Amino acid sequence: MPRIVKDFKEQKEELPQIGIQYIKRGVSMNTVIYYFSGAGNSLSIALSLAQKLPDTKVESIMSLYRNAAIPASCEQVGFVYPCYYGHPPKAVTEAVRNIRLSKQQRIFCVVTFGGFFGQSLIDMKRLLERRTANDIQGFSVRMPGSHILGYPAFPEFLQRFLLRKAEKKIGKIAAYIQNSTPTRFKNATVLEKLLRSFTGESDDKLPNFGQMGTLFYAAGTCNQCGVCSKLCPVNNIRVCSDQIKWGNNCCQCMACIQWCPQKAVAYPSIPIDRPHYHHPAIGLDQMLAYQKPEGIRGDF
Ligand SMILES: Cc1cc2nc3c(=O)[nH]c(=O)nc-3n(C[C@H](O)[C@H](O)[C@H](O)COP(=O)(O)O)c2cc1C
Ligand code: SF4
Ligand code: SF4
Repeated sequence: MPRIVKDFKEQKEELPQIGIQYIKRGVSMNTVIYYFSGAGNSLSIALSLAQKLPDTKVESIMSLYRNAAIPASCEQVGFVYPCYYGHPPKAVTEAVRNIRLSKQQRIFCVVTFGGFFGQSLIDMKRLLERRTANDIQGFSVRMPGSHILGYPAFPEFLQRFLLRKAEKKIGKIAAYIQNSTPTRFKNATVLEKLLRSFTGESDDKLPNFGQMGTLFYAAGTCNQCGVCSKLCPVNNIRVCSDQIKWGNNCCQCMACIQWCPQKAVAYPSIPIDRPHYHHPAIGLDQMLAYQKPEGIRGDF
């Protein structure tokens, strides 16, 4: 067994479980971390942070669509999410726009990204800054890229390198959070401002973003297990009697393609044997342990 696999198996055993239960290290709940994750990177960062912070609960950001009120008992709220095209995913910005929190609650944001996180911290800061009396903290963690429609999985040595580096960085981020150390949000470069004028505050202004999902299809190896449909955070996949259908509300998280047990999710002009990636220490069970919003779904 290659060493990389063994390392991650060991790591997986150490990771706490998501949602459902609190990660108790005291009497009261202190922090809730809301995550959004397609390939498991942001979920792994949320879980690692929760291990390092006292009294922390990890919850899917999609649960905010059901209940937008952040519990009053919670002193800090964290958001951990991927960068999509230099922005936070629309599913994240829409959930955050509606949250109800008190001005005393402290907020931190952690973006995970593959190479260039652009506006994805600044966008969240802008959305949240009037909602809290405290400074918002912003952090970025570089992780293996998940955009399989753009490129194959990073080589294993690079994955291993990035994930080890990320783990170290989480230790530092946890210390910053616990000490409420201010962080700097870098100003947008001219190029980023230009990009922003096209794309707004999230990925939602990108042309045909949701529509792109309709191009997915299941190849012959599909056994109709339904995993893709259960995983899709925006209910954009339907298992029909003889086929799997993708709707027009895709948020391009890549979960369906990256986690399909048969590697049967296909896309025009992308080789079906292109190497897939999902975070090696996150299990499918952990990816599935979140509440989906009602009322969000694609048209088929
Ligand atoms: C649709 C899409 C767009 C992406 N755009 C960017 C980007 O602009 N910059 C970047 O550095 N990484 C980008 N990535 C890579 C992800 O941000 C990165 O791999 C992230 O850690 C994935 O987290 P997740 O597994 O929690 O979804 C993109 C990934 C996807 C699926
Ligand atoms: S996860 Fe893969 S094998 Fe299962 S139904 Fe979806 S496409 Fe088919
Ligand atoms: S259809 Fe696939 S890529 Fe699109 S949102 Fe659903 S799981 Fe993510």
